[in-house]
Amino acid sequence: FEGAVTIPVVVNIIEKFAGEVTQAQINSQIRILNEDFNNNNSNTSSVPSAFANLVADVNISFVLGTVNRVVNTRSSWGTNDAMKDPSQGGIGATDPENNMNLWVCEIGGGILGYAQFPGGASATDGVVIGTDFFGENAAGGIYGKGRTGTHEVGHWLNLRHIWGDGRCNRDDFVSDTPTSDRANYNCPSFPTTHCRSADMTMNYMDYVQDDCMYMFTAGQNDRMRALFVPGQPRVGFVN
Ligand code: ARG
Ligand code: ZN
Ligand code: CA
Repeated sequence: FEGAVTIPVVVNIIEKFAGEVTQAQINSQIRILNEDFNNNNSNTSSVPSAFANLVADVNISFVLGTVNRVVNTRSSWGTNDAMKDPSQGGIGATDPENNMNLWVCEIGGGILGYAQFPGGASATDGVVIGTDFFGENAAGGIYGKGRTGTHEVGHWLNLRHIWGDGRCNRDDFVSDTPTSDRANYNCPSFPTTHCRSADMTMNYMDYVQDDCMYMFTAGQNDRMRALFVPGQPRVGFVN
């Protein structure tokens, strides 16, 4: 699918006190998603020349919709979707065929965020981002620059981790991303090589720190855009 895609974002905030998650934090997360999915971020010029021809402008826009808030003192929501269940103190999803639901809560266990791949249960469709890692937030440190949102929305649009969660011969189902056998952390220098060729450590779907991830590839763009045609799970976002 080649045309414009606009994704309304419903933000579901489960906070320990009213106003814990600020409007500035919300606005910055939407801005960062728009920058990263339109190849418009401040560090895209740092892409090594070996990968420069692969950089994609994914051309997807995100628009802030309803913000729902509930106060709950629970400090560790885990990764079993409790934050999406009103009977457990969470907030239910709003029309997931036509909105990307984004939950913000303390996940715990050192987990920055998690997402549901396309094609799963409607009631749990969306992405979850830990409070400290949502938008621009000093509390998140090197993960406080909003790129957890970019990474999780990548999963929500069917992207796998760039190293394919496996060995050098395992795949992320994208042909222009190099194979690797592991995640990269912190801010690796180029080239960092684990398999046949240099890892694309600066890809949003690796595990490096926020300011060291700044590209999607053309192949990842194609994989995401394949979701917006009739019969595919994200077709509700084009019409
Ligand atoms: N560990 C999480 C996941 O696999 C998020 C990783 C985000 N990385 C980052 N630098 N913000 O979905
Ligand atoms: Zn991930
Ligand atoms: Ca690949």
